[in-house]
Amino acid sequence: MASSNDIRATFLDYFARNGHTPVASSPLVPRNDPTLMFTNAGMVQFKNVFTGQEKRPYVRATTAQKCVRAGGKHNDLDNVGYTARHHTFFEMLGNFSFGDYFKEAAIPYAWELVTKDYGLPKDRLLVTVFSEDEDAAVLWKKVAGLPDDRIIRIATSDNYWRMGDTGPCGPCSEIFYDHGDHIPGGPPGSPDEDGDRFIEIWNLVFMQFEEGPPGTRTPLPKPSIDTGMGLERVAAILQGKHDNYDIDLFRALILASAEATGQDPDGPFKTSHRVIADHLRSTSFLMADGVLPSNEGRGYVLRRIMRRAMRHATLMGAKDPVMHRLVPALIRQMGAAYPELVRAETLISETLLLEETRFKSLLERGLHLLAEETVRLGNNEPLPGAVAFRLYDTYGFPLDLTQDALREQGRSVDLVGFETAMQEQRTRARAAWAGSGDAATERVWFEIKEKTGASEFLGYATESAEGEILALVVNGAQADSVPAGTDVAVILNQTPFYGESGGQVGDTGTISGPDGLVITVTDTQKKLGDLFVHLGRVEAGVAKPGIPVVAVVDHARRGAIRAHHSATHLLHEALRRKLGTHVQQKGSLNAPDRLRFDVSQPRPITADELHWVEAEVNARIRENSEVTTRLMTPDAAVELGAMALFGEKYGDEVRVVAMGEPDGNKPAWSIELCGGTHVRRTGDIGYFRIVGETAVAAGVRRIEAVTGASAEASIAEIQARLNDAAGALRAAPAEVPDRIAALLDDRKKLQNQVAELQKKLATGGGTAAAEDIDGIMLSARNLGEVPAKDLKGLAEAIGKQQGSGVVTLVSTADGKASIVVAVSPDLTGRISAVDLVRAASAAVGGKGGGGRPDLAQAGGPDSTKADEALAAVRAALAG
Ligand code: ALA
Repeated sequence: MASSNDIRATFLDYFARNGHTPVASSPLVPRNDPTLMFTNAGMVQFKNVFTGQEKRPYVRATTAQKCVRAGGKHNDLDNVGYTARHHTFFEMLGNFSFGDYFKEAAIPYAWELVTKDYGLPKDRLLVTVFSEDEDAAVLWKKVAGLPDDRIIRIATSDNYWRMGDTGPCGPCSEIFYDHGDHIPGGPPGSPDEDGDRFIEIWNLVFMQFEEGPPGTRTPLPKPSIDTGMGLERVAAILQGKHDNYDIDLFRALILASAEATGQDPDGPFKTSHRVIADHLRSTSFLMADGVLPSNEGRGYVLRRIMRRAMRHATLMGAKDPVMHRLVPALIRQMGAAYPELVRAETLISETLLLEETRFKSLLERGLHLLAEETVRLGNNEPLPGAVAFRLYDTYGFPLDLTQDALREQGRSVDLVGFETAMQEQRTRARAAWAGSGDAATERVWFEIKEKTGASEFLGYATESAEGEILALVVNGAQADSVPAGTDVAVILNQTPFYGESGGQVGDTGTISGPDGLVITVTDTQKKLGDLFVHLGRVEAGVAKPGIPVVAVVDHARRGAIRAHHSATHLLHEALRRKLGTHVQQKGSLNAPDRLRFDVSQPRPITADELHWVEAEVNARIRENSEVTTRLMTPDAAVELGAMALFGEKYGDEVRVVAMGEPDGNKPAWSIELCGGTHVRRTGDIGYFRIVGETAVAAGVRRIEAVTGASAEASIAEIQARLNDAAGALRAAPAEVPDRIAALLDDRKKLQNQVAELQKKLATGGGTAAAEDIDGIMLSARNLGEVPAKDLKGLAEAIGKQQGSGVVTLVSTADGKASIVVAVSPDLTGRISAVDLVRAASAAVGGKGGGGRPDLAQAGGPDSTKADEALAAVRAALAG
């Protein structure tokens, strides 16, 4: 029996053999279409190739595309589990021609693959064509030799395929398989076509037009081909089953669910096992593509699907969380074809466990409430909207979960009442908010958020995405049309731009749109928690709410920000390892050109310690280990070894960013709670260099560092300075330290020599230079630039040579006058050095002086009056 994996491979091989390039499935979150919630067909990733906006190096392609139809336009959620063929997640096999071949080749390819490679019997096959498409009918007759009654002309939109309200479209032709007359149902177009006997397996779309705003349709540059075959349906036929849930892929998941819950896979809980198997696939694939549970947008659809599965697990009596235990079975089945599933395994199982653990207690209480409420109701009486709202608001029951729970009783929910209760709650929230302090300045953001909800952030996974302008703000007020040359704040439904938070600066880039609209974004901020506000200027064209745009982040700048942010995590961990766990983050900045990191640390960090830290960070960079992100409760994160940031508030869930090889019992070298964007591998940081360590406050040190290109620039700057120094020394850079040491040595020697010489100069001439003033010998000298500190020693030396007498020395070094007076011991009874020095000091503008009768010193600001000071001493002696 061919496995689903074989059947997928047969399809891709067939088209590869026929000149088609195999292209990987695109992610479930469309990067190129803001109108789509999830990728729901193989052609989504090629939308712009069909219209000619985008060029690829091939004109024929084949894919196995992951698709989700839950939420948004195509929504199969409610039927999953109850029918043979509804799934929230399925794989679409397709072949595509971008203006290369058209129906004349698409029909023979399809027929050959189905009848030869898959070997389906011709007499079980029939096709439909759009009633106006005579060409297709003729081709089917010629190529397949099908009789007229098995080429069915359909006049309705069933055979005209459109991607959505807008986008490429064209007539289509579908291949059906007849499962046999033991199954009720009629052929397509017949009154009982909804039965399960005739099943569509492959849709061939003859793409010819692009649908614009209502009523406008333009031809594509060239007729093209888009086809979609449901893998699960074909597998059912090829594996001799009628029900998709009986194929190998699903059977393995259903058996895993049966084992985990202890319930017979084919017993009374058959539906629950199917719901779980289907929802396990959609939720796991969505998480692998970056969607995580939340209360809005895609994250909320994900949460709804999870909770629906979790209710079915509870229904089967599971006491403990079940979903996460099924992930290995899914990876065994699909991991080889979709490696992203393997990469995200931990994230998927941990997130499922987290959600199920948290939801379980609410679920039990909610189901209890639901049971109490329904016994009071009459048969067929709908559940009051207020009860459904309470279940939603207090117990976290998405509306579809409540509906699913009531389905077995054939009971519905009063939807109008539910909506009213929801509105009332909004009104209360608005009234509460209007009374809060922020109201005046933040009013405009609140008004917008009430209308639009949170912005969806796509920037963990992509740096460019299409989006729709939801609101524009000019000078604090909403605007309907913003012309070129105006500063503006732009709100999109989804954005790859990171809004400043957690120390990481906001992204910059461009938003462009139809008719030449270009907005440069110079900063991105977050308002009210999760409204992303792009601040910038309309450069060209006119911005208006409602138009589709392409938002592109400045790639190089974001790359540099990422590198600095990841380096900050490594720096933090290295500091703690070197200095101790008292080191905690006190603030940080992650910019494109630098990082700043403040930590609690009582004393300065020494150069040796910094060197160790820098070397350690660089060693982790060279290790080039993967950087992983996971979602868990704050407690689980701390248990894992994540650094808990004190004083910060966390929600129920935290993002945990880990990098570096496992270490001891820690699964990675650095583990931190963080909402920022990071490099994929530590090697992407390039190189890390600390450029500063300073104090910012008592007990807080600041480290400044650079990475990558900024680190290179900082080295280049140092090199340039060294070269300048070497140039000035006329030496090679390597000789600079020795040359400086030698120069300092020379300087020391010269200083000693100068001191010696000055001493000689001062004492030179001995007593010969002394004057006799009324019988007292006086040596009075102005020593000019001789340092003041040397005067005392010199005065003593001269005094010794002179014997009985007085010595007065003045220095005018450093722009001020310093005076020393020495009196020989035999004279101190008559003459006091203190009196003499005071007289001298007055002459230079000083305020006295002091010392002993035999040695005193003083000073004054006026160094030009040195000679007057000496004269004052003479006068005093003569006095
Ligand atoms: N795009 C076509 C479909 O989804 C093939 O059915």
